[in-house]
Amino acid sequence: MTSVYIRRATPDDAEALSAIWEIICAERVYTAVSQPFSPEQERAYIASLSEREGIFVAEVEGRIVGFQSLDLWVRYTDSFDHVGTLGTFVLPEWRGRGIGRQLARYTLDFARSHGYEKLVVFVRAGNRRAQAFYRSLGFTPCGVLTRQVRIDGQYEDEIFMEMFL
Ligand SMILES: CC(C)(COP(=O)(O)OP(=O)(O)OC[C@H]1O[C@@H](n2cnc3c(N)ncnc32)[C@H](O)[C@@H]1OP(=O)(O)O)[C@@H](O)C(=O)NCCC(=O)NCCS
Repeated sequence: MTSVYIRRATPDDAEALSAIWEIICAERVYTAVSQPFSPEQERAYIASLSEREGIFVAEVEGRIVGFQSLDLWVRYTDSFDHVGTLGTFVLPEWRGRGIGRQLARYTLDFARSHGYEKLVVFVRAGNRRAQAFYRSLGFTPCGVLTRQVRIDGQYEDEIFMEMFL
């Protein structure tokens, strides 16, 4: 079995994370993020995260093959401090091989031990695999935001899903 090492990202991972964004944004169909974050943006973002937030990376033989981010739902008030949001991105050739599940095990443990009570995700309506992935972790669909994403001039709905920890 492939050995996967999960750890918290540091600003020095910015290049590798930006390279993954390049690939996933180029696919066009999985994320609502239309343009990849540059290494500089990624570095600044990692440095800006609080102790309760993080990007967690999955490494195989020293190479980052996927990551999962955990952010506070909002930063402008403490009323949502028990709510987090996730993003999960695995390189194409590594999908369907348990990387997402291993990342989630790590991130959910981290979330539980850092005061989160629930997590929320938004997933593009056409992204059935990601919906199945989040359902397999225990998320339930809550509703649809209509024409929520506009990418390359095309509108798409988004499904939002929640999970209590
Ligand atoms: C969605 C994604 C993060 C899942 O990660 P992954 O490493 O491929 O998923 P895993 O192999 O760990 O699978 C975990 C579970 O998800 C579900 N799943 C994964 N791929 C699936 C597929 N093609 N069809 C149905 N269910 C699937 C299964 O329940 C699976 O559990 P199982 O293997 O015991 O059946 C990954 O495929 C990905 O990066 N996709 C492109 C980017 C993306 O869509 N990100 C989400 C944006 S909201």
